[in-house]
Amino acid sequence: MISHDLGKEKGVYISTYGCQMNVNDTERMYTLLEMLNYSPVSTADRADLIIVNSCSVREKPVHKVHSEVGRYKDLKIKKPHLKIGVGGCVAQQEKKKLLKDVPLLDFVFGTDAIDQLPKIVQDLMAQNNKVVSAQFEHAKPYHVETLVRNPGVSTFVNITKGCDNFCTFCVVPFTRGRERSRPLRHLLQDVLNLTKRGVKEVTLLGQNVNSYTSECGANFAQLMKALASDTPIERIRFTTSHPKDFDEELVSVMQEHRDKIMDYIHLPVQSGNSEVLARMNRGYTREEYIRKAKMILEIMPGAALSTDIIVGFPGETQGQFEDTMTLLDEVPYESIFSFKYSPRPFTKAARWEDQLSDKEKSQRLYRLQDQHKQIAFELAKRYQNQKVSVLVEEYDEETGKANGRSTQNKLTHFQADRNLVGETVQVLIKEAFPQTLRGEWIR
Ligand code: 5AD
Ligand code: SF4
Repeated sequence: MISHDLGKEKGVYISTYGCQMNVNDTERMYTLLEMLNYSPVSTADRADLIIVNSCSVREKPVHKVHSEVGRYKDLKIKKPHLKIGVGGCVAQQEKKKLLKDVPLLDFVFGTDAIDQLPKIVQDLMAQNNKVVSAQFEHAKPYHVETLVRNPGVSTFVNITKGCDNFCTFCVVPFTRGRERSRPLRHLLQDVLNLTKRGVKEVTLLGQNVNSYTSECGANFAQLMKALASDTPIERIRFTTSHPKDFDEELVSVMQEHRDKIMDYIHLPVQSGNSEVLARMNRGYTREEYIRKAKMILEIMPGAALSTDIIVGFPGETQGQFEDTMTLLDEVPYESIFSFKYSPRPFTKAARWEDQLSDKEKSQRLYRLQDQHKQIAFELAKRYQNQKVSVLVEEYDEETGKANGRSTQNKLTHFQADRNLVGETVQVLIKEAFPQTLRGEWIR
């Protein structure tokens, strides 16, 4: 059914929380809603449709949805036709309960309902009934072409969805459902199409990219090899890896195609203590993880590593936390993303009684981040007076300043006298900061 005011341009505002998967989903929503004549607006007060694309991986996610939607109360009074919806992981987790708890909401749609968004919005406009759509599409194969309105230099491409690992702290298997992979031939075509639209770099996305399995049987290493050999894409990145499934075959493919596959690996460790790792259900020990990290650096010398760490997991003793601290001396992480453990609904660890106090968790987080700051500073020095290869993503005409990422994923700033966006250039690094680099363009 077609909405009565289809044809008249309307505004949609989407606020996005959480991971790159959500950023990509938001882009998909904008693209789908364009078909209904909705154009993105930069502030909520200019919108006819507001969507909160929510995240529930950590810290008070439901509360964040309540407070954001609450801010639109006056707007809704002023504009009775305004519709407000919540998508993403909180929507999937709470389903119709969210409509009951947040009366301002008009619709809730889950992580598998994004492609139904145009229909949901049309039904909503036509019938004015509240809508909930939060079923998992278990039966359907995972066939989703990347949808981006104006792809820039770099774009995300989903290769898998869902997760079957059930780490005991993590809500994702409950909010994103069972793991599914897109067929390899679809991905090759998708990336080829993106290159025709000017895309130079793709970041392949999945909760655990290393367990990717195409319906033809190809694994992740074979997918990477095919993308590097059979498409004109210039740069390939991927996230997130799982240490238990990250293997030597993949590192060898990365090294073999180092011109195209970037030498940066995000390898979430979560803890440096084997007992904690077992209780987290991670599937590897401290020693196995360290061996893998060393194997990567041996096969790919100079590659950059980063990680995710949780402090204050239930029952984590002071000694076990110290093992996480010492891991920083064993594995040269250029950046870490560290979090206080936060109990999540449906997860095993949330039900355990030995929860740590917030004060204890904060102290551990502070110590970890403080120690890593110094390590990152030391590690960054290796780029000083070195040449790095940068894909230029932005250029400011007025200042002549350009920036982009080095192969090792460092944001690099330099002066250029012409627009270099989309080009890969060599930059000689003059100053290396822990997370960014400053250098001179080598013409
Ligand atoms: N508490 C704290 N951090 C978490 N993460 C996932 N679940 C939780 C939780 N319950 C972190 C992990 C993961 C990253 C995306 O978020 O480190 O790798
Ligand atoms: Fe969550 Fe573990 Fe799956 Fe990552 S691998 S999404 S941490 S359950």
